[in-house]
Amino acid sequence: MGDQIENVLHETRSFPPSAEFRADARIKTDAVYERMLRESLDNPESFWGRVAREIPWMKPFERVLDWSKAPFAQWFVGGKLNASVVCVDQHVNSVRSGKRAIIFEGEPGDRRTLTYTELQLEVCRFANALKARGIKRGDRVAIYMPMIPEVVVAMLACARIGAAHSVVFGGFSAVALRDRIKDGGCTAVVTADGSFRRGAVLALKPQVDEALTECPDVHAVFVVQRAKNQISWLARRDVWWHEACAVAPSECAPEAMDSEDLLFLLYTSGSTGKPKGIVHTTGGYLVGTYLSTQMVFDLRDEDVYWCTADVGWITGHSYVVYGPLANGATVMLYEGAPNTPHAGRFWELIERHRINIFYTAPTAIRSFMRWGDEHVTKYDLSSLRLLGSVGEPINPEAWIWYRKMIGKELCPIVDTWWQTETGSIMITPLPGVTTTKPGSATRPFFGVDAAIVDEQGVELGPNEGGFLVIRKPWPSMLRGIWGDSERYIETYWKKFGGRFYFAGDGARRDEHGCFWIVGRIDDVIKVSGHRFSSMEVESALVSHESIVEAAVVARPDELTGQAICAFVTLGPGKSPSPELRASIDAHVVKEIGKVARPAEVRFSEALPKTRSGKIMRRLLRDIAAGVETVGDTSTLDDYSVLAKLRQHEE
Ligand code: PRX
Repeated sequence: MGDQIENVLHETRSFPPSAEFRADARIKTDAVYERMLRESLDNPESFWGRVAREIPWMKPFERVLDWSKAPFAQWFVGGKLNASVVCVDQHVNSVRSGKRAIIFEGEPGDRRTLTYTELQLEVCRFANALKARGIKRGDRVAIYMPMIPEVVVAMLACARIGAAHSVVFGGFSAVALRDRIKDGGCTAVVTADGSFRRGAVLALKPQVDEALTECPDVHAVFVVQRAKNQISWLARRDVWWHEACAVAPSECAPEAMDSEDLLFLLYTSGSTGKPKGIVHTTGGYLVGTYLSTQMVFDLRDEDVYWCTADVGWITGHSYVVYGPLANGATVMLYEGAPNTPHAGRFWELIERHRINIFYTAPTAIRSFMRWGDEHVTKYDLSSLRLLGSVGEPINPEAWIWYRKMIGKELCPIVDTWWQTETGSIMITPLPGVTTTKPGSATRPFFGVDAAIVDEQGVELGPNEGGFLVIRKPWPSMLRGIWGDSERYIETYWKKFGGRFYFAGDGARRDEHGCFWIVGRIDDVIKVSGHRFSSMEVESALVSHESIVEAAVVARPDELTGQAICAFVTLGPGKSPSPELRASIDAHVVKEIGKVARPAEVRFSEALPKTRSGKIMRRLLRDIAAGVETVGDTSTLDDYSVLAKLRQHEE
């Protein structure tokens, strides 16, 4: 992280939008932009009310915002709508009925297209299949699936009948899946037999079977037949997707949901061990993702749009499914890895499907750089007109490579800052008007009152580093943490006495008003853009039979942004060995999933602690990063521990 801050501090290049791009952009003049921005901040209710009326409501809302129960917001009070109508039916009833909604390509190369009319049919059938198994309005359904069209259908079908979904990333383990199913009180699961990933079959159903041994409330499991791998079957519980849909009626009336009814839960990591079920409701979330997709990506009806995120993360929810479909976009969906069967797979897809908008993560961009330019230059990328980045700070070197190699210096890059909690993009360039700077997410989006403040909540001046906060509610904001209102207040609102939403990030704003996100100030670690807390990895580690104590810190990593470095103390009679290391890895994979496997495990007889027994992570961070400790060590209980840890580096 230190290097990143350094790089970013010295970055002075800037790129105004090209005249060509500006000419056709949705927002093309500073005057229009400033007017919209001012209205969104000074008069949010009229701004958001107007935007909200662009999506179809079954009953109009009476009031735009009720903030009287802060920090629990209510948006579009009294309004009724259904997310599947917003994302599908409205387009079927328009000139877009025959327009492609989804272009799918599987890793083995199989292809499928669904028009909006076809998508509606699939959504209705599966919605009826859910109903036939007793799933109803108010229930929660876990979705544990690969990136295939059925995952979009499943999410929208839940929305259609008023059940909330809780999508769990397919790379999470059975244990992680079980915990999320239980916490959310899910009564059904949608999954697939397996998926094609890196040239092999990644089985999914066995993880579900294992997870469900401890989830008695789940009475139905819908299984998409995708990879045709051998799976076990529980006849009273399991049902094939295709069999259930074959007998399901093709029409299903959408439930009229209250604007504030739960649309979905999505679990994410905070600074403590237990993942939080982030609560997103219907009206505000749809309005926020609808407008941001349109403006940030400068979306046009003829565009083919591709966001490479997995639906297991918020980016997949907001910018693969809800935002683009609410706008009637054509969305690309790809099942597999970016380097299977070759390192140019993404570029081949862009060439074949004439993709216009491409949105991915810095960690992926760094991989592409490493794989070599020859894999890119082989393909015709001339269809691209806009590029995006999300998930972690993008280092200027990767930004410049992205601009030159992928965008051929013609495409604007939108570096978008936001979070699972914010629901939609918060700080971002608007491609027709914003001068971009490599490494900066630039300026707050419409209606976003972002500021950098000090410990007391006082706003800081240009280039002073501090805490990033949001001072006013916004439509797609989280409505809480599932089952734990106290934790919601504690985590996001307490630090500044309930006045501001505290995002957990450190940032500065330069003299032109551009935001530079420096990274997390808590114990959240971002590995390849995936969010973990040091504590959840630590608790997985200490549940290993040989480990008595563990501390996990992030160290900078060229490829993944941050990497997990674990310091562990072994129990009596245990000693480090390659076998033990392998078993520790396997244990973390079992508890959380492959994504959380430590890049490095250091064995140590003791960990540096304060006299009161708190592990001094700051020191461990320095050791992990291989830098000298410059901070205060006067509270350290036993100095010899530090010396020993350093010796282990050799
Ligand atoms: O630290 C910020 C970083 O990712 C965190 C949110 O993670 P998550 O909820 O997984 O959502 C990621 C996708 C929206 C933030 O607190 N982050 C996200 N985007 C950026 C970023 N850091 C810098 N620049 C970004 N563009």
